[in-house]
Amino acid sequence: MSTAPARRRSLTGIQPSGMPHIGNLLGAILPALKLAETHDGFYFVASYHAFTTQRDPRLMAQQVWDVAATWLSFGLDPERCVLWNQHDVPEVCELSWVLACMTPKSGLDKAHAYKDAVAKGIKEVNCGLYTYPVLMAADILAFDSHVVPVGKDQKQHVEMARDMAQRLNHHYGDVLVVPEPQITPEVAAVPGIDGQKMSKSYGNDIGALLPPKKLRKRVMRIATDSKPLEAPKDPDTCTVFALYKLFATPAQREEMAARYRAGGLGYGHAKQELFELMDAQLAEPRERYAHYVDHPDEVREILASGALKARPVARATLSRVRDAIGLSSQLSIS
Ligand code: ADP
Ligand code: TRP
Repeated sequence: MSTAPARRRSLTGIQPSGMPHIGNLLGAILPALKLAETHDGFYFVASYHAFTTQRDPRLMAQQVWDVAATWLSFGLDPERCVLWNQHDVPEVCELSWVLACMTPKSGLDKAHAYKDAVAKGIKEVNCGLYTYPVLMAADILAFDSHVVPVGKDQKQHVEMARDMAQRLNHHYGDVLVVPEPQITPEVAAVPGIDGQKMSKSYGNDIGALLPPKKLRKRVMRIATDSKPLEAPKDPDTCTVFALYKLFATPAQREEMAARYRAGGLGYGHAKQELFELMDAQLAEPRERYAHYVDHPDEVREILASGALKARPVARATLSRVRDAIGLSSQLSIS
């Protein structure tokens, strides 16, 4: 019954909770753009997910724009991919209600977004944060997505979306496409400047579009051990090297690892080389971002035309779901 698109579809969302960082870039944005070469690329700004915690309307609007501009700055081609804001496709919220009614509450108790909030000591967890995985499943399922490129932290949420699709299909037939997470092993959990997983919420991130001076400052703050310059060093336990290898060619990676092991390479120098490598690769996206800052409406227009393309897809899925559950719309009888 499901009307799967001809090309397999790749879909992912980024929450507008601050400027995207290197972890978002390497773990989600670049893999998603790579997939768009062979897939139908559907990428969006997960604004309603951010609303689980963001209460400042000006900041919200700014960060939504920033995430969209970041996608574009790193090469999303709006002629080939669809880019939109989650809140411009309200069908997703309706689908999320249907899925919520079929999801056992006990499953949501184990979800990361909720467990993290409880671990952080947030006393009053709102219902939106609790049902976060249901909205995320609706995002994925509404667009008949096959592949969902994400970092490791989102694997559980994508698996919950699979469970929800399978449960609905089990009851009502082949209604929803069952998605697969795609996690690129080398960039599954990019480390931050303290060596933990990079995350906006840990304050250890390196912004993907920082101006050179600020980028250098962040890189220089990466924590290392206190081995002196002349001492041989282990590249495999060093955060500077862990980041270096994500930007380097295989030959550069080998050479740097050998210099670590040989001794005579200080962490300050390694950081400077990491900065230069990153800066060279981030310069062009940074320039594109500056262009969008000067022409903010270009981003808004792309988002508007993206929503116009995304909405009929979600509407068709929703109508399939409503028919399947016995709630066909009476509005079509006129
Ligand atoms: P943050 O943890 O900074 O709030 P988000 O939750 O907004 O980041 O993540 C957006 C996307 O980027 C998700 O697909 C997520 O898995 C990915 N991602 C976030 N941090 C990392 C990281 N350190 N390494 C790899 N991928 C990441
Ligand atoms: N929860 C994801 C994150 O925090 C963002 C997101 C929302 C998403 N909806 C999605 C990712 C659908 C992939 C698919 O990173």
